[in-house]
Amino acid sequence: MSNDALVDAFFPYRRSYETHRALPAQGVARDEVLAMVDEMAAREDKIAREGRVSGSIYHGGEDHFAFLADVFRRFAHVNVLQRDMYPSATKFEGEIVAMCLGLLDGGEESCGVLSFGGSESLFDAVLVYREQGGIPDPQVIVPVTAHVAIAKAAHYLGVEVVPAPVTDEFVVDVDAVRSLITPRTVALFGSAGTYPHGLIDPIEALAELALEHEIGLHVDGCLGGLILPWGERLGVDLPLWDFRVEGVTSISADTHKYGYAPKGTGVMLYANRELRRRQYFKASDWPGGLYASPGIAGSRSGGLIAATWAALVTLGEQGYLEIAAEIFRTGAEIRAAVEALPELRVFGDPTFCIAFGSDELDIYHVNDALKQSGWRMNSLQLPPGLHFCVTLPNTQPGVTEAFAADLASAVEYAKTAEGPPRSGAVYGGGNEMLEGVLDAWYEPAPPL
Ligand SMILES: Cc1ncc(COP(=O)(O)O)c(C=O)c1O
Repeated sequence: MSNDALVDAFFPYRRSYETHRALPAQGVARDEVLAMVDEMAAREDKIAREGRVSGSIYHGGEDHFAFLADVFRRFAHVNVLQRDMYPSATKFEGEIVAMCLGLLDGGEESCGVLSFGGSESLFDAVLVYREQGGIPDPQVIVPVTAHVAIAKAAHYLGVEVVPAPVTDEFVVDVDAVRSLITPRTVALFGSAGTYPHGLIDPIEALAELALEHEIGLHVDGCLGGLILPWGERLGVDLPLWDFRVEGVTSISADTHKYGYAPKGTGVMLYANRELRRRQYFKASDWPGGLYASPGIAGSRSGGLIAATWAALVTLGEQGYLEIAAEIFRTGAEIRAAVEALPELRVFGDPTFCIAFGSDELDIYHVNDALKQSGWRMNSLQLPPGLHFCVTLPNTQPGVTEAFAADLASAVEYAKTAEGPPRSGAVYGGGNEMLEGVLDAWYEPAPPL
């Protein structure tokens, strides 16, 4: 690819729209802005609507999101730190937490907060257990398959991550965790399900260890927390992992994933109020006045909170159950499509997010061919693999049949493919997630 083509791939709009390198002297007309964003959104949403994208777009219904956007705009400008002005936020946040606790069997003492998504919830978890531990040089034991946002939080918070290996079934090795616990361990982490493989760690066994050592156990349900409970009701065979397991002290679950809310919200749930208080920040001796905030964010928009609440109450149990039935059905079909090909191997025992690799082929060659046929898989590494995280758009008629056919062709392609594959294993898609790319996110397009 020429340098120009690379830049165009990264800045596809630089040839069609003006690049603003400074504030325009006169404001651009609203109509012009609306026409432009309409065009961009239609182009960018197209691939997800066709149902060939893994994860990312969890609901995808135009109607659903138009409604949520309608709710959002009523409170978009609202700063919910000012509760005297906006008590609606207290209703919405309290009810979002209560509805999620209900789904995850929180007991009498259970409680929670709203976060801006998985990464903030996991930041809260690391902070809370560091504070609860109250010891110098705290450590947390984290399965290697747990989401890397835990390592990010630990990096910010000066907590050491002790990585725990997984078994051949790709869930955490509990014996290894046992042997890694030291007096410096303040908490254990597990997932339901793991980002790479969509699997549920053996939470009951981890909980026994946590109770024995009187330490915390956080279950990262950011991905699976709001889909697995429906799977259980639908009769999918799943192990226990939520607050019914004694010893689970906190759970994160993302409303902006399988809660079908707009991007930017999740819940962080605690088994008791003492733990929740560990994440609060309070200052009573600041010239700016008395200050308190529940998490990292200061000012927060009421729009996202209201829209999240609206997603939950309008879908209701029936709505979530119906969507989940479609997702688990599609998950089983995707899994069957992979299992039908002897060159491929499914990782563990997945239900809604299906990961697979190959002992014979370069799986990234398989991905190259899938990409050519319009599929956007997520690439994994250690070991190399791909996953298909099933969401509502993937449940459309014909999608799994098309996937099965394209996967079979992709395997044939990989058998004879030469040279290095074009697709690798970078989270978020593409090969290019390097520091330079992150820098480029914050630059206007280079001149033509
Ligand atoms: C299991 C798990 N935890 C945490 C996260 C991080 O969530 P977010 O991207 O909302 O910060 C993800 C994201 O996919 C995830 O799958």
